[in-house]
Amino acid sequence: MSQINENYLNLAQRYLFSEVAARVSAYLGKNPSAKIIRMGIGDVTQPIAPAVAQAMHRAVEDCCHSETFHGYGPEPGYDFLRNAIVENDFAGLGIKASEVFVSDGAKSDTGNIGDIFSQCNVIGITDPVYPVYVDTNTMAGRRIVYIPCNPGNGFTGDIPDQKLDIIYLCYPNNPTGAVISREKLKAWVDYALENQSIIFYDAAYEAFIRDPQIPHSIYEIEGAKRCAIEFRSFSKTAGFTGIRCAFNVVPEELTARSSDGREISLNHLWDRRQSCKFNGASYISQRAAEAVYSPEGKVQVKAVLDGYLETAAVIRASLQKAGLNPVGGENSPYIWAQTPGGMPSWDFFDLLLNRAGVVVTPGAGFGQAGEGYFRVTAFSSKDQSIEAMEKLNQLVKSL
Ligand code: MLT
Repeated sequence: MSQINENYLNLAQRYLFSEVAARVSAYLGKNPSAKIIRMGIGDVTQPIAPAVAQAMHRAVEDCCHSETFHGYGPEPGYDFLRNAIVENDFAGLGIKASEVFVSDGAKSDTGNIGDIFSQCNVIGITDPVYPVYVDTNTMAGRRIVYIPCNPGNGFTGDIPDQKLDIIYLCYPNNPTGAVISREKLKAWVDYALENQSIIFYDAAYEAFIRDPQIPHSIYEIEGAKRCAIEFRSFSKTAGFTGIRCAFNVVPEELTARSSDGREISLNHLWDRRQSCKFNGASYISQRAAEAVYSPEGKVQVKAVLDGYLETAAVIRASLQKAGLNPVGGENSPYIWAQTPGGMPSWDFFDLLLNRAGVVVTPGAGFGQAGEGYFRVTAFSSKDQSIEAMEKLNQLVKSL
């Protein structure tokens, strides 16, 4: 009989957001007429920008005529998009189009990148964290060392005093909404260079940064091209959670060792992996992504994000009023707050769902250090968010 990958037996029974969805649907099964306000999974709600929609219509039209039809595209992405990414997101940082790999999402990228690394690597993961990093490394059977993130270190982790081979960093952070200063990011880059480690830098939420002091890319830090892979996504930036388009940057000078001591180019290995296992993001989604960088696209996309940030400010103020010490929500769509009276976070999740019809994400779902916290997203409408926060405040007062 064939055998399973037993590492899967070490995973939690369900992926975090599947567990949240299952609890919500069990509640709705029992209360079919209940009104729910969803502030759990970070899924966007506003329609795509008109410039993006027009680009998609044009791309569909291209596919309807033999002269402009597109079949399989180049696996790392079309040049029109790779060039637009380099010119707009990495201007002045020396990133080349050949270092950009277009994909269908940062979730799959941050998981798939593990394919080109040995199972023997020791992985550093900040805690609380986006669960994909933990789950995909558990699937591969790698040892994980958790790096606690708390108010004391601004949710940016303390630089480890041991050698870690690969470190995942995500800023603006999911789930805490915290940002990382240039100085702290430099400390992480210096650590990686000194220890010959690699940083997987998930910058999926960089478009929410408004504070000019906060770095958007790890490549703003000197030396990062020798120690970091960056992940970006159009999902939250431009409402692509359903359309699917993202990218990552693997600098040509970035290397890691084979067991016989040779230095191997990671750009080449990743290209090899992607061209074998992935047929590229669709032509239509790549044309849509290209339009995000058009002059009208930039203005329209920013207006949507500004709207989400306004909602985030309302949520944060309301959680402050409830005495739950929120963080985040200023350069991020996520707000992270303490549960009332230190209640276990799944208990608070259930209580808030059952008594107020409001869905958040329990902090414990993001790791042990998330216990006693919950995450709220600012992707619902402002009106719904105000209503949800009023209900939450009333519930907290009644406890
Ligand atoms: C989240 O809620 O953390 C995100 O939506 C998950 C994701 O982007 O995959």
